[in-house]
Amino acid sequence: MSRTKIMAGNWKMNQTVNEITTFFSQLEKEKSSFKCEAWISPQAIHLQLVKELGNKLGIKVGPQNCCNKNSGAFTGELSPLSIKDMGATFVIIGHSERRTIYKESDAVLNEKTLLALDNNLKVVFCVGETLEEREGNLTEKVLETQLTQGLKNLPKAKEKDLVIAYEPVWAIGTGKNATPAQARDAHAFIRNFLVKQGLDAQNLSILYGGSVKPDNVVELLAQDGIDGALVGGASLKASDYIKLCQACSK
Ligand code: PGA
Repeated sequence: MSRTKIMAGNWKMNQTVNEITTFFSQLEKEKSSFKCEAWISPQAIHLQLVKELGNKLGIKVGPQNCCNKNSGAFTGELSPLSIKDMGATFVIIGHSERRTIYKESDAVLNEKTLLALDNNLKVVFCVGETLEEREGNLTEKVLETQLTQGLKNLPKAKEKDLVIAYEPVWAIGTGKNATPAQARDAHAFIRNFLVKQGLDAQNLSILYGGSVKPDNVVELLAQDGIDGALVGGASLKASDYIKLCQACSK
């Protein structure tokens, strides 16, 4: 079993050019202490800058979304072909903010995932239940649906390029992280479900996301089956992101 440890920062719609330059100059001093993979997902307009600054430190870059088409008349969209072409490594697909605010359906997310993989990008595919769904005992059902629909027709050869992020919607940006036991159980459920679906899920990295911070990351990452994290707020400050990467390197 060999699962890659990943600390992925999802910057969402934040960071200026100045803040990004400062972030990387602070990171440069500590990068040698990282043994995990460090991935950063900036706004699309900053992909090139983050790629240049990140490359020197071995940090990988990728956007927070992509189109379900490679080219054509799709104003405002981001082509997976162009994402690969500019040197990005991965793309985040199915983040709850895309599902909820932009009404992205499981079917569209499936198209995006297959096309991104076809362009030799890695995909961080996000799943997670709302508070209402958790309280209604629907967590497993929701995860099953998101995984079944979103990963439909996944080519066997592309399984190695897939990363799952389990992000309970109620924990995102709320300061209320899942307990380590809740996260561990959800990760185990996801892995077992994918094994049943015929995937080589023992080798698949599953990241936890939702209010991960330097003061809760150690306990979360100590759980069986949690292979890293997808972090929003706490990834914006270099000092916090450094601590997160160091915790993930143990
Ligand atoms: P958060 O965001 O760490 O700010 O909760 C996580 C995410 O949305 O990926």
